[in-house]
Amino acid sequence: MDLFTRKTQKLPPPEHIAIIMDGNGRWAKKRGLPRTAGHAAGAETFRRIATYCRSIGVKYLTVYAFSTENWKRSREEVECIMALFEKYLHEAIDEMEQDHIRLKVLGDLSRISPELRALIERTAEISTHYDGFQANVCINYGGRDEIVHAARRFAAQCAAGEKKPEELTEEAFGGLLYTAGIPDPELIIRPSGEERVSNFLLWQSAYSEYYFTDVLWPDFDERELDRAIAAYHKRDRRFGGVKK
Ligand code: IPE
Ligand code: IPE
Ligand code: MG
Repeated sequence: MDLFTRKTQKLPPPEHIAIIMDGNGRWAKKRGLPRTAGHAAGAETFRRIATYCRSIGVKYLTVYAFSTENWKRSREEVECIMALFEKYLHEAIDEMEQDHIRLKVLGDLSRISPELRALIERTAEISTHYDGFQANVCINYGGRDEIVHAARRFAAQCAAGEKKPEELTEEAFGGLLYTAGIPDPELIIRPSGEERVSNFLLWQSAYSEYYFTDVLWPDFDERELDRAIAAYHKRDRRFGGVKK
């Protein structure tokens, strides 16, 4: 462990870190490889960063793996990404039981294959037995889609006479989102040089701190995460108030 890493570890990490895992395609292109090779490398980076987050005491890690807009990509690329989800969920099931890890998939699962959905349900079921580190993987996730789903659920409850419109508070609405029960992320990291939100955690990021880096996701490592945490600790979070 070098000096930089040790210094960062003295500072408590955020309870919840979210990451837009971007740059897999460009990473592959730079090496003359197909985009799919970038996704395979990116999946390994996820595993590495999740292990590191757990070791430094992060409670929740939420990663953006596939957006509601990513279906626009070629069939070959989408199929490769879905196959990687299956492979990693299979492996995760053993590890979850061994290490008491929770793993949840957030997103609209109606477009996901029945095989993958069965694995997702299995990980959700195993997660109910544990209360340690939780990884949330956003698949077919869109912030707007999530908000529309939540609004529909509440409207249906009103139509059924179970709820009244005035009963809807910010807290109640948050409880209808895919992230119900998960605190908002303090820190959102986007690698790859793009500085936009791309429909990620629109509701939950109201007061999140953003950290952007040019590093492509497959090259992202523990040191990069330490850098992001160190930058986060320098921020002055006011939540609309006045600096003390
Ligand atoms: C992120 O990497 C993975 C997904 C969006 C599924 P990209 O595939 O977007 O990589 P770039 O942005 O093209 O480099
Ligand atoms: C955001 O990355 C989605 C994921 C990382 C899963 P994109 O590559 O899809 O976003 P844009 O197209 O650059 O905004
Ligand atoms: Mg991208």
